Amino acid sequence: MTRPHWALELPPLPALSADTEADVVVVGAGIAGLTAAYLLAQEGQRVVVLERDEVGSGETLRTSAQLTASLDFRYFELAGIHGEDRARLIAESHTAATDEIERIVGAEGIECDFQRVPGYLFAPPEQQDDLRRELGAMQAAGLDAVLVEPPAGTRDLGPCIRLDRQAAFHPGKYLRGLVGAAGRLGVRLFSHSPVESYDEHGAVTQAGARVRAAHVVLATNVPVADRVKFSFRLEPFRTYMVALEQTGTLDLAHFWDTLNPYHYVRPDGDLLLVGGEDHGVGRADDAEERYACLETWAREHFEVGVRREAWSGQVENTPDGLAYLGRTGGVYVVTGDVGNGLTHGTIGAMLIRDQIAGRENPWAELYDPARLPRGNRLEWLREGVTAASHLGEWLTPGEDGDPADLKPGEGAVLRRGLKKLAVYRDAAGELHVHSAMCTHVGCVVHWNSGEHSWDCPCHGSRFAPGGEVLHGPAREPLAKEELSGT
Ligand SMILES: Cc1cc2nc3c(=O)[nH]c(=O)nc-3n(C[C@H](O)[C@H](O)[C@H](O)COP(=O)(O)OP(=O)(O)OC[C@H]3O[C@@H](n4cnc5c(N)ncnc54)[C@H](O)[C@@H]3O)c2cc1C
Ligand code: FES
Repeated sequence: MTRPHWALELPPLPALSADTEADVVVVGAGIAGLTAAYLLAQEGQRVVVLERDEVGSGETLRTSAQLTASLDFRYFELAGIHGEDRARLIAESHTAATDEIERIVGAEGIECDFQRVPGYLFAPPEQQDDLRRELGAMQAAGLDAVLVEPPAGTRDLGPCIRLDRQAAFHPGKYLRGLVGAAGRLGVRLFSHSPVESYDEHGAVTQAGARVRAAHVVLATNVPVADRVKFSFRLEPFRTYMVALEQTGTLDLAHFWDTLNPYHYVRPDGDLLLVGGEDHGVGRADDAEERYACLETWAREHFEVGVRREAWSGQVENTPDGLAYLGRTGGVYVVTGDVGNGLTHGTIGAMLIRDQIAGRENPWAELYDPARLPRGNRLEWLREGVTAASHLGEWLTPGEDGDPADLKPGEGAVLRRGLKKLAVYRDAAGELHVHSAMCTHVGCVVHWNSGEHSWDCPCHGSRFAPGGEVLHGPAREPLAKEELSGT
């Protein structure tokens, strides 16, 4: 697996070894779970956090760390889907999330390089009309958007929409600060405690330890143990990032273009972080080409030198551009980040705090996880149909290659009789053989040579070469298999 750019030493935490009680059990220790735990503890709730691996081992340290109200969906699209009143609430909620992060940073003295910066949205020549349309839609949504010349240190961006008072921070340092602040409020945090099941009375870890709690918050990026509810309303994408040496002078700012998939850019010290080149999870295996495309694109618009880092991460799109946040089916969820999960995760934490405290929240209806489709309903069905089409891969022939051809570090799906096997050769030359059947609902996993993982094209579950779950909705590891005759 590639190393996330924002990785840093986070405090080691114990695993949960015995049953316990709390008012709220939060599952997942990324930005959403830790913010929810902190805010709920401020309300006087007794909170336990259960994390599968370590704090921050999900997507939060893989991000470009842009806190903004400029979203992946354009505001003219959002106003078309949700209506103009809700577009204003969308802008208001993402702005409030950045304000809330700034408030927490100040109140808890968290040193995480939080800084207010401008954000610039730009468009290729053929999309200039859309850029002007977006300017109007942002202004109608209440954002302080203006059209400006591109800032110094850039090339050929053309006119840009500038939004002031967006923010940048170091998400690893922020998570470390949240762990400390939550701990001071009495939150009990446990790592290496994967949750196996949950209901409205609490959660149970794979090791069998139960947390009895009146409220369960699922902040696992995609809900675990979820067979039908969310997996079929989320569209998982891999997205790629490179860190290039900066050779010019560019003030700290955020940049996005309007392409689909779009590019996102921000400086970090002497590096320029450049992201994009997204594709559906498990539907391509060409990471190096995507990194090279990002470099080529970056050289057209910024002054950059050699590549220092490259990594990828996962985002979960929704058909209407908004996350699913809040109470549903007796539990609380934060999912469907749509590439804006730092702010969506913070909005979710604020909303869930209010719902558990019994307070009205103006964004509850907007982000309701059980909302009926808004906008084009066919769009909601499209991804489900695409995912279902991958189930047919069991019937496809081929892939009867020889495991002896696999070099150390390589993996491949090989057919043996009626079975498809996920076969990986480790650095020491040993073969690791598992069923290629994803343990969520049974699609065939694909090898991801960039991250050395088995990725499922249906709903985005990912597994390590040893079969362990890296990303839900799957909970169970890939089943071990034998490869006779090798
Ligand atoms: C390359 C990239 C760039 C991005 N850029 C931005 C950006 O600029 N701005 C922005 O707002 N967003 C951005 N995002 C999205 C954002 O980073 C994520 O949506 C956000 O960090 C998700 O936070 P989270 O807390 O919901 O999930 P995560 O950080 O994934 O945390 C979930 C946690 O749950 C744990 N978990 C999973 N299953 C279990 C279980 N069964 N039991 C216990 N624990 C479990 C995981 O181990 C993990 O630690 C980007 C994402 C990527 C990949
Ligand atoms: S993630 Fe649903 S079948 Fe693999």
